[in-house]
Amino acid sequence: MQYRFPDNFWWGSASSAAQTEGAALRDGKAPTNWDHWFKTQPNRFFNQVGPEDTSTFYDRFRDDIQLMKKIGHNSFRTSISWARLIPDGNGEVNQTAVDFYNALFDELVENGIEPFITLFHFDMPFSMQEKGGWENREVIDAFAQYAETCFKLFGHKVKYWFTFNEPIVPVEGGYLYDFHYPNVVDFRRAATVAYHTMLAHAKAVKHYRDLNLDGQIGIVLNLTPSYPRSQNPADLKAANIADLLFNRSFLDPAVKGEYPQALVDLLRQHDQLPDCTPEDAVLLQGGKVDILGVNYYMPRRVKARENAVNPDSPFMPEWFFDPYEMPGRKMNPHRGWEIYEKGIYDILTNLKDNYGNLPCYISENGMGVEGENRFLEDGQINDQYRIEFVREHLRWLHKGISEGANCLGYHMWTFIDNWSWSNAYKNRYGFVQLDLETQTRTIKKSGEWYAEVSKNNGF
Ligand code: BG6
Repeated sequence: MQYRFPDNFWWGSASSAAQTEGAALRDGKAPTNWDHWFKTQPNRFFNQVGPEDTSTFYDRFRDDIQLMKKIGHNSFRTSISWARLIPDGNGEVNQTAVDFYNALFDELVENGIEPFITLFHFDMPFSMQEKGGWENREVIDAFAQYAETCFKLFGHKVKYWFTFNEPIVPVEGGYLYDFHYPNVVDFRRAATVAYHTMLAHAKAVKHYRDLNLDGQIGIVLNLTPSYPRSQNPADLKAANIADLLFNRSFLDPAVKGEYPQALVDLLRQHDQLPDCTPEDAVLLQGGKVDILGVNYYMPRRVKARENAVNPDSPFMPEWFFDPYEMPGRKMNPHRGWEIYEKGIYDILTNLKDNYGNLPCYISENGMGVEGENRFLEDGQINDQYRIEFVREHLRWLHKGISEGANCLGYHMWTFIDNWSWSNAYKNRYGFVQLDLETQTRTIKKSGEWYAEVSKNNGF
């Protein structure tokens, strides 16, 4: 075997409550931003498929866990739905939800699959959004209380907790680029949402530490390495600012407990800093994580801007750089994302060299493909492209580990084809195919391949 991974390496996949559970308005679950947005603007969702009945995991999780076992999972990440557990956001706990999550975690553990649990994966309870969402500090407290409730209810069986999944995405989608509700375009409000999210994270970490549970707490960040077009100082400056805004804005507070001074200076210079209190800094220091989940899909290539900024346009990250389309880049055309396998190695090297080599794992990596049925052979999807995608990423991951990176596992996005934010079921990511009509699940070729890799702990 050419690529052997460390003993006890985590092989698994990731998903989230809103994208897989279905039963979005059943058994006491209250609406989230997604339920609300779909009700008011269904045209914003691919083929007008909404979040109500996503992948029926709520009803079929027992059978699905058997499939996970079949494809070699020893760990699996999903999220708890805040709006299911505490329908009002900060009121009573929904006992039906407690029973569901207890049954789910028990079933995973009994089948030898370690549950990794996220507390917030883009699914703001609508009641909390009506209060202003992350712009309102009351919502920070409500989240911290929700987190504490989860730790108390499930902390003896769940050992790996993640406060947020890709906290920058609701900032980008909801407050800069119009792909999440509430569709605001306003950098200062975006910065406030980002900052408050990290305060909410730190408060949750504090509760976790206070409870003295036997486990670890972390955060999942989508790290998107910023590559300059060239070594020209103008391109380097552009890449550095992109890195500050899109990576270090969350990575530094999560791992080092404070923001990079250069980022603070930049936002101050443009009058975009959120309101801060001296107590916030103390809180953030206490929010340092035990473990980091790294989601990696694509790199960000940038160059110095070609044209002057329109001073009347809204202040945006793109005031400092233009996206750069590198000739010869490899693309996943279905998602419009570049595939650059070495990025995974560059991230691990950066964490090793500049972030104390803290324990981390690849918490998401994957490839969404449209129209996968054209690859059906004898009733099974022969997704060689996905096998290739994972294999090439794992090679670079392996190289990182062999050079000392502290990477403990690899999770694929995703286990079973699931519903995606506004793209609905357009692109399929799963190891397991989902027939939308019948809800039948069929393992793809990549799932069988992954089972072998996991069994052999390498390839
Ligand atoms: C990550 C998210 O950004 O990428 C997932 O954590 C998401 O929730 C995945 O589904 C793939 O992106 P998309 O937009 O194609 O579904």
